[in-house]
Amino acid sequence: MHENFPWWKSGILYQIYPRSFQDSNGDGVGDLRGVIERLPYLRELGVDALWLSPIFPSPMEDFGYDISDYTGIDPLFGTLDDFDALVAAAHNLGLRVILDLVPNHTSDRHPWFIESRSSRDNAKRDWYIWRDPKGEVGPPNNWLSEFGGSSWEFDAYTGQHYYHAFLRNQPDLNWRNPEVRRAMHDVMRFWLRRGVDGFRVDVMWHLIKDDLLRDNPPNPDYTEGQQPYQQLVPLYSTDRPEVHDVVSELRQVIDEFDDRVLIGEIYLPPGKLVAYYGRDLAGAHLPFNFALISTPWNARAIAKLIDDYEAALPPGAWPNWVLGNHDRQRIASRVGGDQARVAAMLLLTLRGTPTLYYGDEIGMPQVEIPPDRVRDPWEKNVPGMGVGRDGCRTPMQWDATAYAGFSVSEPWLPLSKNVALENVATERRDSASMLSLRRALIALRRARPELSLGTYKLVSVAGDLLVFERAHQGRRLLVALNLGVASASLAAHGRILLSTFMDRQAEEIDGSLSLRGAEGIILKPSA
Ligand code: GLC
Repeated sequence: MHENFPWWKSGILYQIYPRSFQDSNGDGVGDLRGVIERLPYLRELGVDALWLSPIFPSPMEDFGYDISDYTGIDPLFGTLDDFDALVAAAHNLGLRVILDLVPNHTSDRHPWFIESRSSRDNAKRDWYIWRDPKGEVGPPNNWLSEFGGSSWEFDAYTGQHYYHAFLRNQPDLNWRNPEVRRAMHDVMRFWLRRGVDGFRVDVMWHLIKDDLLRDNPPNPDYTEGQQPYQQLVPLYSTDRPEVHDVVSELRQVIDEFDDRVLIGEIYLPPGKLVAYYGRDLAGAHLPFNFALISTPWNARAIAKLIDDYEAALPPGAWPNWVLGNHDRQRIASRVGGDQARVAAMLLLTLRGTPTLYYGDEIGMPQVEIPPDRVRDPWEKNVPGMGVGRDGCRTPMQWDATAYAGFSVSEPWLPLSKNVALENVATERRDSASMLSLRRALIALRRARPELSLGTYKLVSVAGDLLVFERAHQGRRLLVALNLGVASASLAAHGRILLSTFMDRQAEEIDGSLSLRGAEGIILKPSA
C-alpha cells in the first residue's frame, strides 16, 4: 500500500531509554539483551522502528550523553555482539533500529579530549573550543550552560577555558575543524555498516557556534524563578547559519546507504525548526517537532500550533510529531488520565511521523523522585526548579510482580506507585485499557492511508472541540477530539471507527455526533 514512500514516512517510531526498558542481568539497569527479550512486545504494539538513547561507553555523568568511545557498547548495556544480535533480531521481526548520535560533545574522558587538554600544541587541541581567559581567569564570554552556570571551564594545566554547552564533563567538539567532521562521519559509517537504520542526532541546533564568540544578549522575557540558562537569548551559541552545512554533510553520509533516516533533536519554534530540513530538503529527514510537549492543552492552541507548523513546512517536507521523551514531563501527568487518551489519538492521527516514548502507551506517569534518589545531573546543578528528568525515566512497567518485571533487583530509579494497575500484563487483558487503545490506534493508522499519508485539514475549533479531516485518494476520515470535561457535539454522518473509551466501535451517526467529556472519536463519514 505504501510502496512509494520511504518507511519512515508511513512508519511509527518508538523511543527506548535503555537503562529503563528491561534488565536481563539483575543489576537494576536495563540492557541490550533485555531489549531483545522485549522485541516481540514492540512487534505486537505495531511500531516500525525503535530508537535507542545512547548505549556507548560512558562515565554516565549525563547517563550516556557523555560518550567516551563512539564505536563501542558500554559494558552496563552489553557487548557489540549483543548489539549485532539486537539488530538481527529486530530486522527479523521487521523492526528498524535507530541509534542516538551525540556529535556536539564528548565525555571529558574521551581520548580525543584527554589529548586535546594535554598541551596547547597537541594535534587534537583544535578539536575542542579552547580560548584564553578574559582578565586573570574570567570566562571568554557570557555564554551559559544549559545545565546551569557558565559554559566555560578553566583548565589550569594549559591556562585556557574550554566550552561546554551542557556539563563541564561534556566538552563541545569544534565542528569548524574538518578533522572532527571526518571523524564523526566515520563513526556514522561504522554503525550504518553494522545495519543501523538511521540516527537521532542529539542537540543538532547546537553543533556550530559563532566564530567570533560574541556575547549572547539578555533575554527581555526572563523572569525571576526561571532557570538561569534563560537569562540570555542563545543567539550566538546556537542555531548559527553554518549549522546547515554541517547537517547536509551528515545527510550525505546517510545517503551513502540505502533507506536510512536522519532525525534531528532541535528545540526551536516552527519557523526556525523547519530550516533543518535543509536547502532542497538535503538536511534532516525529520527535524523533531516537540511543539505538542509544551503547548497549553486546549483546542484553540493546538489547532493553531498544527496550522503554524503545517504552514511553515517547506514544499515536500514530511512532518513529524512528538508527545514525550526522556527530557520532558510524561504526558499522562501533564494532561491527566482521560486526556492522555485524547493526546494519544491526536498523536496517532496527525499528518506526519509519530514518535512514541516508551511507557506512554500504558499511561506511565511522571514519577515523584525522593531527594535521596535523584540521579539527574541537571536537577543536581539547578535544584528545586522542576528541571529534573528522572521522573520520566523510571523503569518500564511490565507486570505487577516485584520490580514490575523490569528487573529482579532494586532498579536504578524508583518505580511508580501505580504499577499494580498500570502495567503491560494487566492492560493487555483489558480491552478498554490505554494499551488496547494505543494498539487500536496504531493498527488503524497502519490500515488506513488516510491517517498515515493523507492530507490534513482543520474542520472546526469550537470551545473544547477540535475537529480535523484526513483524506487520501478520495477517502476521508474525521477526527473529533474533546479537550474539555463537558460533553460536546457536532453535525456528522457516518460510522465510528474508534472512541478513546473503546466502547462505540461501529456505532452509526446520523446527523449529530455527541462526545463525552475527554472523548476522542475517529469517524468514517458516509459519502
Ligand atoms: C539532549 C538529550 C539530553 C542530554 C543533552 C546533552 O538534549 O536529549 O538528555 O542531557 O542533549 O547531551
